[in-house]
Amino acid sequence: MGACDFETCGFLLLLNTQREREREIDMASFLWSLCLSFLFLVSGARSAQPKKPVDVQFSKNYVPTWAFDHIKYFNGGAEAQLILDKYTGTGFQSKGSYLFGHFSMHIKMVAGDSAGVVTAFYLSSQNSEHDEIDFEFLGNRTGQPYILQTNVFTGGKGNREQRIYLWFDPTKAYHTYSVLWNMYQIAFFVDDVPIRVFKNSKDIGVKFPFDQPMKIYSSLWNADDLATRGGLEKTDWSKAPFVASYKGFHIDGCEASVNAKFCETQGKRWWDQKAFQDLDAAQYKRLKWVRQKYTIYNYCTDRVRFPNTPVECKRDHDI
Ligand SMILES: *[C@@H]1O[C@H](CO)[C@@H](O)[C@H](O)[C@H]1NC(C)=O
Repeated sequence: MGACDFETCGFLLLLNTQREREREIDMASFLWSLCLSFLFLVSGARSAQPKKPVDVQFSKNYVPTWAFDHIKYFNGGAEAQLILDKYTGTGFQSKGSYLFGHFSMHIKMVAGDSAGVVTAFYLSSQNSEHDEIDFEFLGNRTGQPYILQTNVFTGGKGNREQRIYLWFDPTKAYHTYSVLWNMYQIAFFVDDVPIRVFKNSKDIGVKFPFDQPMKIYSSLWNADDLATRGGLEKTDWSKAPFVASYKGFHIDGCEASVNAKFCETQGKRWWDQKAFQDLDAAQYKRLKWVRQKYTIYNYCTDRVRFPNTPVECKRDHDI
């Protein structure tokens, strides 16, 4: 610092120390971010993000369930469209039954005016006291948001509805909807974001699906008696046909015969491992984000229907 009067000197001195401090702060935050990315890498290695599915053709894992002529195939069966018109909807199901695994589908929802129309993607066992894991997409008038409803049935008992808005328009592009199911939890994902978890709470008296193989189903049908604004909005058939598009068709599960009571390779598959037995901290953070920003309805907080909070709710971080 050359010659300068007291004020400028003081100012320059101040500036210098300020710069140094900034440099120190820069250094500290650099080290900090280095540290964070290291932590991220380490935890990333143990992260509970389900294994990426490999897209296959429809016919590898699925068959139509009803109204075969209302399913159209593209690109050699790599893509399929379900069509709903005033005569019928349609649906398909997995060839195999599964006990645990990761079940995902890329779906593009019915675009435009889809009020009254429901698209479902779910797992279900076939018996009377059945288990079921549901994604249900409730259509809406053009420009109005879809609602995603999820539910879990165990031993024939459901009544565990949750409803959220999505943070994107599900009619514009394919998004991935998946279920991770193992002995410890059922986690619902939208793309990579966990939107719901149902933990195995057998120890506190809540049934958990574990011994009834499930098939995977999807369908598109008219439910204008209840789907949109509680049935107020009717399906506008002048907008038919309604089309939902599918890709992916991968199934990563333990295949079991319909009457099997256990999976032959129980405990040995990737979804059985430690990293998938619970969501990790980052995933819980995202789940919380969904809860706070997008929840419309949660049975866990419905005091009218359930004066006593269902016991699993606490464990599922739902209350
Ligand atoms: C449809 O849009 C209306 C208006 O924004 C909204 O109140 C409703 O929750 C939406 N979804 C359904 C399924 O009714």
